[in-house]
Parts: sequence; structure tokens; C-alpha cells
Amino acid sequence: QFAQKDGFRFFMEKEIYEQSDVVSDCMIGRIQDNSINFDEISPELLDGINEIKICACGTSYHAGLTSSYLFERLAKIKCNVEIASEFRYKEPLLTKDTLFIVISQSGETADTLEALKMAKKAGLKSVVVCNVDNSSMTRVADFTILTRAGIEKGVASTKAFSTQTVVLWMLALYFAKINSSISSELLQSEIKALREVPKSLIVEDRIHEKTKRLSKRYLHGHGFFFIGRDVFFPLALEGALKLKEISYLHAEGYPSGEMKHGPIALADPELFTIALMPQNLLYDKIKSNVEELSARDSTICSISSLEFELCDDFIKIQETNHYMLEFFEMLVVLQLFSMEISIRLGNDVDMPRNLAKSVTVE
Ligand code: G6P
Repeated sequence: QFAQKDGFRFFMEKEIYEQSDVVSDCMIGRIQDNSINFDEISPELLDGINEIKICACGTSYHAGLTSSYLFERLAKIKCNVEIASEFRYKEPLLTKDTLFIVISQSGETADTLEALKMAKKAGLKSVVVCNVDNSSMTRVADFTILTRAGIEKGVASTKAFSTQTVVLWMLALYFAKINSSISSELLQSEIKALREVPKSLIVEDRIHEKTKRLSKRYLHGHGFFFIGRDVFFPLALEGALKLKEISYLHAEGYPSGEMKHGPIALADPELFTIALMPQNLLYDKIKSNVEELSARDSTICSISSLEFELCDDFIKIQETNHYMLEFFEMLVVLQLFSMEISIRLGNDVDMPRNLAKSVTVE
């Protein structure tokens, strides 16, 4: 048992540390010189397509939500994302100009699989972004893009999420190229940033130590808000989900600009706010959202490359020149933070109560 964990305390910890390597694997052959290529699909996939619909559950849903910003921003394709269990029963309108993408680590989640079958039945082209080859979804979807994360044992998903997000970012760029919706300069700088992702996912001792230290104090709160804007909103949702899953503490992910429309009423010193403050994206906007929370006495920990004096605590990530690199730097911090709190609470990090790795029943 110990050997399998290679000296790490939990599989989750091992999997957090593996992210840099598996993300490199997932880019092999897909980034060639200065272009993106997927052997699994061809440019004709986009023929007649005006829209992308994504369906997924849990952490995979958060990867989907993140990618919806990238599909619209880079590939200029309308994209919406739905939770599979909602999609199934809302009598969705499906038109053939929609590319249907499902995202699933296991390829077996019942609701996502059913959503995929519904789309197929309606005659839509479909793609699954999946970590398990030959799983049910790979057998149903027209095309499979594997995430190559390797076996993920921790119930709380880590490396599956980072590889899904990288695959979807590459896919957005691949579509952008087909659509001619991106300048070659922008494409080159995006590819340059993609190549830096493995570096952003390396766990620094300094950061791990800092999350350990902060976990001592941050387990006493009565609630957590994780806040961010744009792609950092789905990242905030993912940070909150990780904490809920393994610490059993109440946490909510929220778009920071929306806090004033209700949640800020909860602000007090025992309400912990984890603020995702990327230097390269809407920094001033999130800063003013954090100011509002600080004025109402919330205890705030910022994750950023820049220190902001109104925050009580600060986890410093590396300075980079692309918001997606900040995204992955912050992801590691959020994963370590929830794991260290969970360990301190004496929970079973890899097998949290009431949860299953793969939910194959409705
Ligand atoms: C379960 C797991 C989550 C996972 C979700 C979707 O709830 O505990 O970690 O994100 O299922 O799983 P999938 O295999 O479809 O990505």
C-alpha cells in the first residue's frame, strides 16, 4: 500500500504531484511546432457546426465551464455547459448544428452517459474527453480524446481535471485555427503558454508548506467563499468542491462580482474568503470585489502573484504572463489547501464519506 503511494501520505497527494508529468504526456504529439493537432479528429468535425454544448458532472463539469470561456474567446464558437443530470430532464432543444462534448474522467458516470446517448439519438456529432479508454462513453461517442492522466485513485479528482482543462484549451485553439478566428500571433503566444503549463503545475515546497501552515487556522471557520471571475469562477467552484469533498466544511464557489447580490450579507470574521486574484485577468475588478468583503470584516486569503494589503493572508504564486498559467498555479494551491485541512481534521483524504469515485447509477 505504502509503496503504491511512492512515499506520499495519500493517493490524492501523489496525484497532485503527478500533474506536471501527466499534463506533459497529454500534450505529446498534440502540440507540433507551432500548431495544435489531434489525430483523433479532423477539421471536418466543425463542418456545419455553429455551437458547442458541453455536458458533465462534478469536477469534469468545472473543466467544461472553464473551457466555455476559451471556446468563445479563442474559437469564437457559442458554447454552453450543462450539468448532465439537469440536461437529461429539461427536454433540451437539440439541433444538428451543435457539437456535443461530454467530459468524464471515468467514462461511466450514468447521467453524463445518458446525456450523450440523447444527443446521439438526436443526430448530433459527439466527442468525449475521457481518461479511460474503452469505457462506456468512448464506445458511444463519435470521437474520443483521451486525457492520458493515468489511473486516478483519490475520490477527489485532481490530475483528471488538469488534463481535461489542457485538452479543452488545446481543442479551443484547434477549432480557432480551423475557423480562422485567431491571429497567428495570438495562436503562437497561446501555444507558448501551453508549453509552460507543466512548469506551473510543479509543486513548490514553499507553497506546500504555506498551505500546511494556513490549514491550522482555516479549519475553524463556519464557512468558505471561493471567489473569482472569468475562468477563475469555475476554478473557485472547483476549489470549493475539493474542500467540501474531503474536509466536510461548508464552502461555496462564487463569481466575485455577484457577491454583492446577496452572499456578502454573510461576511464576518469567521467567514473565510479565498480570493483568486490573477495578475493577468481583470485584476482591478476582483480587487474592488475583495475591498468590499474586507470592508465587511471577512477574513480573506488571496492567491496571487501580487500581494494586496487588504487581505489577511497571502499565498504567492509565480509571476507569469498568461492567465491560464496563473490558473494552474492556483489550482495546485487549492488542491493542497483542501488536502491539508482534511488531513488536519483526521479525515480519510482518499475515501471521503458518502462519495464514490464513479457514480454509475442515477
Ligand atoms: C464523482 C466523483 C467526482 C467526479 C464526478 C464525475 O462524483 O466523486 O470526483 O468529478 O463523479 O465523474 P466523471 O468520471 O464523469 O468525471
